[in-house]
Amino acid sequence: MDVYEAVTSRRAVRGFTDKVVPREVLERVLSAAAWSPSGSNLQPWHAYVVIGEPLAELKKRAGKRVAAGDPWDEREYEMYPSALKSPYRERRSAFGEERYGALGISREDWESRQRAASANWDCFGAPAALFCYIDRGLGLPQWSDLGMYLQTVMLLLRAEGLHSCPQMAWSVYRKTVAEIVSPPDGLILFCGMSIGFEDVTVDYIRTGRAPLNETVTFVEG
Ligand SMILES: Cc1cc2nc3c(=O)[nH]c(=O)nc-3n(C[C@H](O)[C@H](O)[C@H](O)COP(=O)(O)O)c2cc1C
Repeated sequence: MDVYEAVTSRRAVRGFTDKVVPREVLERVLSAAAWSPSGSNLQPWHAYVVIGEPLAELKKRAGKRVAAGDPWDEREYEMYPSALKSPYRERRSAFGEERYGALGISREDWESRQRAASANWDCFGAPAALFCYIDRGLGLPQWSDLGMYLQTVMLLLRAEGLHSCPQMAWSVYRKTVAEIVSPPDGLILFCGMSIGFEDVTVDYIRTGRAPLNETVTFVEG
């Protein structure tokens, strides 16, 4: 698979089969992803891979919290600014339409949207998950290094025939994740990532992208 194909075939998959992801495949992917760039080569990512019984336990505990209507853990970072300005506001609502429209859920049906979103904490059925932490003392450039690392992981997973879904949703149940992975003090959970083989029977709508001239400016003579 060439890089273009890996980039364009990657998408946030929200339906996985229970087919096991071999540990050696995950090790191969994460060994290669270690070559991701980072400012001054800080390599600020701390990744925890959770599979098998510990993942089943995590899903069970998170599921119990969802069912009990447990409040989310207090935030360690804001996922989005409270008032999103244009064009991000419009892009966000277009995404909501695409994501929930594929499931036949209307804009007004908040309850069904919440029910669909709760599949996050079952990792959409995936048999493997990665949780990416960053040291509390690091700043915005290092958070961006995490993004490069995570995208590298996701592209390498494509090369292995696997799919993924990055999930900030896990940050709201970060204490439950911590019960399972026991991170040292001082780390913040940025996001989780479900990993597995796609369940091709699950409907989805491919997200769109802004036209190139909205996000890229060529400055030339
Ligand atoms: C940092 C990050 C966090 C995300 N968190 C979630 C999440 O919690 N749940 C989810 O279903 N999708 C999540 N996504 C997936 C995005 O919704 C998705 O990447 C975006 O809509 C573009 O669609 P595509 O990845 O299918 O191309 C996240 C993506 C990123 C990069």
